[in-house]
Amino acid sequence: MALRKIREEGDSALLKKSRVVTDFNKRIHTLLDDMRETLLEANGVGLAAPQVGVLRRVVLVMDVSKEELSPEEQIIELINPEIIETSGEQTGTEGCLSVPGVYGIVTRPEYAKVRAQDRYGNFFEVDGHGIVARCFCHEIDHLDGHLFTEKAERILTPEELENYTEEDE
Ligand code: NI
Repeated sequence: MALRKIREEGDSALLKKSRVVTDFNKRIHTLLDDMRETLLEANGVGLAAPQVGVLRRVVLVMDVSKEELSPEEQIIELINPEIIETSGEQTGTEGCLSVPGVYGIVTRPEYAKVRAQDRYGNFFEVDGHGIVARCFCHEIDHLDGHLFTEKAERILTPEELENYTEEDE
């Protein structure tokens, strides 16, 4: 496994549409393993392949609702993910490893169900509420070249940011 460099806003890879994965081969497994390591190192809750410069429909989302699991065990690998059901609404603070230090207020569904393939090509469904649903939506947006800053009602001011990160600790 190896750490990959996280691309930041301004990098063209973040604005492009990623391609569907058809071969569930060694190259995809290496990408997934490297993304896992990169996500854990960055202390994020999700990571999409274009964020490491690979335009493939691959994302990782951490199911932080499963508090009994270690961070490594919380990672869900989603290949060719699609949101097939949503309900409710939540408005809250969102950030992104590719837009460091910036947080915005974004409205997302409160619940989302995703259909995806695992690293061997098997289809499965997974769902989540709250931050997990938010993360599914945020990461899948990356695959179509969208950043949360486009969807944010507004960006937190430096003062709000200070309060937010204090609450976080
Ligand atoms: Ni992001």
